[in-house]
Amino acid sequence: MDTLYIISAIFWFPSSWIQIVVISLFYSLIYSIFKHYCLPYRVLRRTGIPFDRPTYLVGNNFDFDPLTLHKRQLEQQKKYGLVYGDFFFTIPTIFIADPEMIKSIMVTHFSNFCNRFQAINMPILFEKSILRIADEPWKRIRTVMIGSFSAAKLKPIGNLVSDSCRILMISFDEGFHKNKKVSLTKPCEHLSMHVLLAAAFGIEFETLKDESKITEAVNVLFANMPVGLRMVMMLSIRLWEFLEPLMGGKVLSSMDYLMQIVLNVINDRRNNIKLNKSCRQDILQMLIEAGDKGKLTDEEIVAQVFFLMVGGYQTTANTLMFALHSIATNSNVQEKLYDEIQAKYDNNNCHIDYDFVLELPYLKMVLEETTRMYPPVIFPDRGVKEDITINGLLIPKEVMIGFPTYAIHHNPDYWPNPEEFRPERFTVEEKAKQIPFSYITFGGGQRHCLGMRLAKLEVKMAIVNILLKYELFPVEETKVPLEIKSEATLMPVEEIILGLKKR
Ligand code: HEM
Repeated sequence: MDTLYIISAIFWFPSSWIQIVVISLFYSLIYSIFKHYCLPYRVLRRTGIPFDRPTYLVGNNFDFDPLTLHKRQLEQQKKYGLVYGDFFFTIPTIFIADPEMIKSIMVTHFSNFCNRFQAINMPILFEKSILRIADEPWKRIRTVMIGSFSAAKLKPIGNLVSDSCRILMISFDEGFHKNKKVSLTKPCEHLSMHVLLAAAFGIEFETLKDESKITEAVNVLFANMPVGLRMVMMLSIRLWEFLEPLMGGKVLSSMDYLMQIVLNVINDRRNNIKLNKSCRQDILQMLIEAGDKGKLTDEEIVAQVFFLMVGGYQTTANTLMFALHSIATNSNVQEKLYDEIQAKYDNNNCHIDYDFVLELPYLKMVLEETTRMYPPVIFPDRGVKEDITINGLLIPKEVMIGFPTYAIHHNPDYWPNPEEFRPERFTVEEKAKQIPFSYITFGGGQRHCLGMRLAKLEVKMAIVNILLKYELFPVEETKVPLEIKSEATLMPVEEIILGLKKR
């Protein structure tokens, strides 16, 4: 009764402030529904592609557990085919798993798809990073950075990676002496961070404890953020920055900590340059030199260092874990790989460096097959500059293009028996038969992964070091098949534990 009275009062007394508030709220709601539901819905309807009906504000995000995004890709592909729509919150998204169209987008029509979709408001450090920046600033920064990742620059880095592998082997030796087993997460993560810090930024820590602190801080950035908080981030970065610490989150404090480390490193390097001390020609040096020539601002330098530390870390660590699990659980592959490594080792004065791993074709195939089965980045994206029609599909400028890498890599039309680990898919002859852009672990076109060579070098050197000393095998705790989840990168659900036998 009371409610009825209040409602009638609102409408009978037009000048009351309550009425003004209610009417404003009412119109805001209508406007919000129109903007965040009707408009995005209309955009996808216009394309004519199939999609599941979204929910207001959250789109299709609550239709599945976010940790199973890779499975969702397979399900949607089965249901709708190679091109379908989805709503990432309120963003109309077109998923494209057709290799020919992927090539058109990444390469042929690059100028129309040269930027990533600005899906989420991100803290400033991410906004200024090469991953996020667009157009001319991206071109300028990529041109500066690309030299640091060339084959010539990576060759000397092989020695630093070799040093880092020595630390990795200490963990394996400890595991062997303790219970003839090794848990992979910590050693692989530490290797990845150690290589990035030492090779890219010339940081070498006095103790593993200091390095662990950084690794932990970066891990926080990869931890799965609750969906509610992620929504707040998309709607208002300021509100998110206010709420995140209050809700017990550590993302902002970890970012502050990492930012401080990065700033200290840059300052130290600048001081060394001033004092004419010889400096390593690493990625940091290139960025600073470009900055001194006016090509990069200080803020941009910090953002790139920060992104490389974050973006190159877990992708590489997970790839190494996936590779070791695959090798341990496929004894024929391990045998063949070991024979290849051993034969080369005997003839090579026992020095494992850049050239050593480059000349191991089967190792290359094992790594390619690992990243086909377990692509760490399962959802690279692109924004659209202007409406365009490709292969008869209208792609409106409002949409985000998503490439469902996991589903593409598990499509039996391109990869027969996709769940079978078979490096022979990547022999020279078989590769010649592969459909271009049916393997996109590192993306494609001019925006492909800049750190690909470094990541491959590191994972290969780690595998060689491990296999020369130990035979790996599954133990009771080893999950076969491996269970995986989709966090910021694809990763194992549980710790991977493997058995070790000395060679
Ligand atoms: C196995 C490890 C890695 C995988 C699977 C991986 C994968 C990817 C993918 C899929 C992209 C998006 C490409 C696209 O949109 O076409 C990307 C971008 C990028 N990656 Fe990696 N990445 C790895 C390691 C690294 C490392 C170690 C670094 C550097 C230290 C790095 C630096 C970058 C950069 C700078 C970009 C942005 C490029 C641009 O927008 O111009 N990545 N990576």
